[in-house]
Amino acid sequence: MSSEAVEYDAQVEALNKAFEQWLERFVATLPEPAHKRLGSYYSLNAYIGLLPPRVPATDVGDPEEWMREIEDTRVRFTGRKSELANLKSQIGRIPQNDRAAFAQKVQALEKRFLYDLNLLRGFCGKEVAAARVERERVDVTLPGRRPRRGHLHPITLLRQRIEDIFVAMGYSVEDGPEVETDFYNFTALNIPELHPARSPQDTFYTTDGLSLRSQTSTVQIHAMQRRRPPLRVIAPGRVFRRDTPDATHNPMFYQVEGLLVDRGITMEHLKGTLSEFVRRMLGPEVRTRFRPSYFPFTEPSMETDYSCFKCRGVGCRMCKGSGWIELGGSGMVHPNVLRAVQIDPEEFSGFAFGWGIDRMCGLMYELDDIRLLFENDVRFLEQF
Ligand code: DAH
Repeated sequence: MSSEAVEYDAQVEALNKAFEQWLERFVATLPEPAHKRLGSYYSLNAYIGLLPPRVPATDVGDPEEWMREIEDTRVRFTGRKSELANLKSQIGRIPQNDRAAFAQKVQALEKRFLYDLNLLRGFCGKEVAAARVERERVDVTLPGRRPRRGHLHPITLLRQRIEDIFVAMGYSVEDGPEVETDFYNFTALNIPELHPARSPQDTFYTTDGLSLRSQTSTVQIHAMQRRRPPLRVIAPGRVFRRDTPDATHNPMFYQVEGLLVDRGITMEHLKGTLSEFVRRMLGPEVRTRFRPSYFPFTEPSMETDYSCFKCRGVGCRMCKGSGWIELGGSGMVHPNVLRAVQIDPEEFSGFAFGWGIDRMCGLMYELDDIRLLFENDVRFLEQF
């Protein structure tokens, strides 16, 4: 063999070796399942059989990435600037005797490159398609994922029950601002200048003359200005007082206010309405009682109690042994309140009532601490 032929032979061998190394490395990086499937391509079996035992792939690999590498390899080994192309161009320099044999060797090498790369491309093409199908697959037989349902807040649940009962009795639901002027918070409600409720110890003031409403009674004034009598409204909403939080107090809590103004309204209407509410809310066996009381905006005023729904009036922990639970205040609208919104107390009369919702909520759901209501702990809220 001529020396050129020997050198040429060595180059062909080296090229073949480089390709095999690439092939081996490439196949070894394929993840386990792809690797197994590749075993059915018989021309590559030899390489796979030679591979050392594999560590299972942690990365499942990206078939599209494999396709790119195969294409790069094709260019590197068989492209116009490849060593193979270079060898081919030099065949003419090999002495006549050896030339045909080497030409055949180079051709066989090229064929082998293309054949293996083609096989790999076919294989990876299938993997790409399979991966795409897998990615886009929808198994219609899988059970649906149930959407997580939200929960209404216990105060909202209670508020809605109260609203439903009064709406059924012909009341509208009214709203009012949470930041109020002195007029709505106090003056129009017949609360005198030096009344303790006006004290900054009890009420949050923002600026002079503006405060956070400390009772929903403020909505009585707005409602009468907006609607004029005859009217029936209830007004649930937040109120604010400078209380230190404890198991039964929060500086923000909910009240519901009621107001009815019409001609010829008497205490009987008030008592009948409240008794009916209690019946509808708590059941026909729950009784109602009224005690005289005092509020600046009603005259006469009273407190309403209902018989304990747990012990039926016998006395238990819930009603602190008395058999009765306090609902809240009420009374006949004070003539001064009507006058404050230019309603003639000689023509119209009315009644009003106002209760706290949070404590009622605490009782109904047997909470031992009403601060839970505003901690927003989902584990608590999910129970309702
Ligand atoms: N606003 C009173 C309070 O917060 C409750 C109240 C009492 C409302 C009597 C009324 C009423 O409408 O007539 O304690």
